[in-house]
Amino acid sequence: MSHSIHILYGENAAYGIISTAMPSRTGINVLLDGYLPNENIRFRDNPVTFDSVLHSDVITDSNTIVKYSDLTKSYDDFEVSIKSGEIKERDVIGIIGPNSIGKTTFMQILAGLIKTNSGEINKKASISYKPQYLKSDFNDTVHSLLSSINDEMLEEALFQTEMLRPLKIMKLYEKQVNELSGGELQKISILMCLMQNADIYALDEPSAVVDVEDRLVIGRAINKFIKNRGKSAIIIDHDIQLIDLISDKLIIFQGKPGINGIGSGIQSKFGGMNMFLKDMEITYRRDIESGRPRVNKPGSRLDREQKTSGVYYHIKTE
Ligand SMILES: Nc1ncnc2c1ncn2[C@@H]1O[C@H](COP(=O)(O)OP(=O)(O)OP(=O)(O)O)[C@@H](O)[C@H]1O
Ligand SMILES: [Mg+2]
Repeated sequence: MSHSIHILYGENAAYGIISTAMPSRTGINVLLDGYLPNENIRFRDNPVTFDSVLHSDVITDSNTIVKYSDLTKSYDDFEVSIKSGEIKERDVIGIIGPNSIGKTTFMQILAGLIKTNSGEINKKASISYKPQYLKSDFNDTVHSLLSSINDEMLEEALFQTEMLRPLKIMKLYEKQVNELSGGELQKISILMCLMQNADIYALDEPSAVVDVEDRLVIGRAINKFIKNRGKSAIIIDHDIQLIDLISDKLIIFQGKPGINGIGSGIQSKFGGMNMFLKDMEITYRRDIESGRPRVNKPGSRLDREQKTSGVYYHIKTE
């Protein structure tokens, strides 16, 4: 939305410095790069890159662990139907769609928390579920909460490098769970989900109330965790960039919010993104330098060209 950008950098809770203004494209690339050329200042050791987005590899020969028929669920004023699908080992499935369209309802059906009105689910897998709305009614420290879930994993070197350090969790160890900020509580809730022993991790809006920079860190950490351990995941989120970063396949929810929702079959990321963006009449390109997905200005040359050729979602940087 903005034409120019200032970057604020410094040290949490100590000091902040405001950069000179930059055009927004330059500013975002500088932010991702971690280096301010005008000021000659490096404010982050490593650049943020989007390579995993560009090389999302879909595994085709793995075993099916959940199979469901067409499903329906109705409440007094709302009905959702979901097209049949199969979740395979090592699938990372993103779920996108507007508010009040049945995404959480579907995840709760898969997790076995609510019953459908019609349809069957054949599950050979265990699911660990992070709800959309978080509770913090635990009267002890973060460390005692996490170690009560999985003490061994907390001490594991791999888990520390892939999750605890990037999310800066150790700093929170001595804090009381019921005093955490929204973003801190979200990170702890994600960990509580991932630290359970399960085949599928179902995360409902892991980026909610988390700041922009931490969203990427969380996206990457979840991705590494799932891939390194050969697990599967289903992730609902409104942050398209996070979904793009994290998932290999997609389910798109469409319909009339609060009235009726339709969940698509499980699609390739390209097909799913295209369907979602077309529905919203938005086209995406890739930033040449960072690979970051960018929304084309409506009516611009690229927007018109991509709409004509039906490519709403661009995978390649060109
Ligand atoms: N237990 C319930 N009883 C009655 N209606 C419900 C119940 N749970 C959900 N609904 C309704 O079903 C619809 C879909 O809710 P759901 O939570 O699945 O939406 P969502 O797609 O996850 O939305 P959001 O993006 O806002 O989280 C909403 O209109 C909601 O009010
Ligand atoms: Mg929801």
